[in-house]
Amino acid sequence: MPNPKRIAVIPGDGIGPEVMPEAVKVLTASGANLELSHFDWGADRFLAEGVTVPQDGFTALDRDFDAILVGAFGDPRVPSNIHAKEILLGMRFKMDLYANVRPVRLLDSSLCPLKGATPADIDFVVIRENTEGMYSDVGGVFKQGTPDEIAVQEDINTRKGVERIVRYAFDYCERHSKHDGTQRERVLMCDKSNAMTHAGGLWQRVFKEVSEEYPQITTQHMYVDALCLQMVRDPRQFDVIVTNNMFGDIITDLAAGLQGGLGMAASGNIHPGKTSMFEPVHGSAPPIAGKKMANPFGAILTAAMMLSHLGLKEQAEKIEAAVLEAVKQKRTTHDLGGALTTSESGDWLAERVAVGSAQSR
Ligand code: NAD
Ligand code: IPM
Ligand code: MN
Repeated sequence: MPNPKRIAVIPGDGIGPEVMPEAVKVLTASGANLELSHFDWGADRFLAEGVTVPQDGFTALDRDFDAILVGAFGDPRVPSNIHAKEILLGMRFKMDLYANVRPVRLLDSSLCPLKGATPADIDFVVIRENTEGMYSDVGGVFKQGTPDEIAVQEDINTRKGVERIVRYAFDYCERHSKHDGTQRERVLMCDKSNAMTHAGGLWQRVFKEVSEEYPQITTQHMYVDALCLQMVRDPRQFDVIVTNNMFGDIITDLAAGLQGGLGMAASGNIHPGKTSMFEPVHGSAPPIAGKKMANPFGAILTAAMMLSHLGLKEQAEKIEAAVLEAVKQKRTTHDLGGALTTSESGDWLAERVAVGSAQSR
């Protein structure tokens, strides 16, 4: 038996600690050989001890774990959001997890708000730059609290940062198939180079240069505003989308809507060869926290994505198949039209996955 994969589990705030036990249940049922360690980083600890990330926290994550599984951060008791920024953006930036991979897949027509859309129409992936852009925290405020106040928030785009994310997108396209088994074949770069010419110009030049190394891949370009329209008008045209940090954040909430809502969307924060972090796209959803109604599928599909990244593809596929079955049979929470609570939904899935595991042994 090979050594277990060591997973750091950080449930976080709000619905994070509600969806995470369901993801853990399903991971356990999958039979994957894992060693889980739980971390209490989040708003409660910050409010009690003033600590967001303990000393050497990121070094330890990087050194002692194969992957990190995160719930969500954000709590109305911390209006500055400082803990979420230090923990979540801290992991992304300080661990240099430069590729935020957000698959967008419609599992069943009933989940999509678009008239007549089928699973064949929505199967694309957004590759979001994750370590620079407008999230860089460069800037400041001047004359705060006066009528002359100035706030500067710089948009940092480095040659190295743009090049590595664009190359990641082309490599991803080359190595992945769609769910119907056909090869992915198009990379679209999304920017706002008609207005933001300095950053946009760099993205345009790098995209063109890198694309020349991949002659078999078709390139596309769209301004981010037009892309938002096209995403709801004709999502079939998208395959792999690469974009900056801010635009990637925004378009993946829109894309989550196409899949049935934020409760369905998974993501991975990846640096190839380094300890990477996996989290659902949704936040801590304070209004529904504690009500047993959070959809755990986003977290569960995220856990499957983590397994796949760790090379445990068979277990990942079992989990994905079980989620598909749950959606088809309406064994879901209310947001997807079912009548189950968060834990009932996780129980159903875990049982289904365990049966699959027993059969494949
Ligand atoms: P949100 O994703 O928490 O919620 C947006 C909407 O989606 C709400 O209507 C919510 O009820 C619904 N929703 C989200 N997840 C759901 C689920 N699993 N099941 C059913 N419904 C679900 O976004 P928000 O309201 O903008 O942010 C709330 C807090 O979360 C803020 O503090 C924000 O900063 C934080 N946030 C954190 C992350 C993260 O940790 N990765 C991501 C996004 C937002
Ligand atoms: C996300 C979230 C985060 C982001 C927030 C919580 C800082 O919205 O992961 O999509 O903007 O990246
Ligand atoms: Mn977001």
